Amino acid sequence: MTTKILKEVKAELHKGVTEKGHPFRYCILATVGLENIPRQRTVVLRELGDDLHLNFYTDLRSKKIIHIHENKKVSLMFLHPEKLLQIRVEGLAKIHRDHATLDKHRKNLLAINKKNFSTAAAPGTTIANPNAVDYLKDADYFCVVEVNPFKIEYLKLEHPNHIRVRFAREGADWDGEYLVP
Ligand SMILES: Cc1cc2nc3c(=O)[nH]c(=O)nc-3n(C[C@H](O)[C@H](O)[C@H](O)COP(=O)(O)O)c2cc1C
Repeated sequence: MTTKILKEVKAELHKGVTEKGHPFRYCILATVGLENIPRQRTVVLRELGDDLHLNFYTDLRSKKIIHIHENKKVSLMFLHPEKLLQIRVEGLAKIHRDHATLDKHRKNLLAINKKNFSTAAAPGTTIANPNAVDYLKDADYFCVVEVNPFKIEYLKLEHPNHIRVRFAREGADWDGEYLVP
């Protein structure tokens, strides 16, 4: 029975990458660095692997990357408000900056998005006003972050019973257990 739910998890996450307007296109990434304060932010889900790894793009100089260097355990949270479906993923993050990976993923970016990774000053730097941002011409800090899940939790609110399932990775497989919602 939980196998069917895992299939649903995969299908919904896949739609997040491929279907325009699907709510799983955006997720909340939480990281915890050395200061021990969870930090959350929205990121775009860019790729889902067959092994359920999830990729997003970011700037190598951003705080999330500093956190991942300090602590590679991260979590992602997806919400489908209409289906009342929440999926939480816990996993290990890996930063990719090699040419082959970056070239493959750069192709997915619109020119306007490419700009986001080539600001002269690092993201989070104080500026006088929103127009006071300079861009580098020939360089960028684009990187791909891959999250390899070790735990996935599914929660769907429905009647007569809400459904909550915890999946834990066992090698290449996933073990699912129902939980009290
Ligand atoms: C709709 C939306 C989508 C976003 N997508 C991304 C993204 O894919 N990658 C990214 O690095 N930041 C993205 N951001 C910005 C982040 O939420 C965050 O503000 C920024 O990355 C700085 O985070 P940090 O300082 O914690 O590293 C997005 C913001 C919004 C509002």
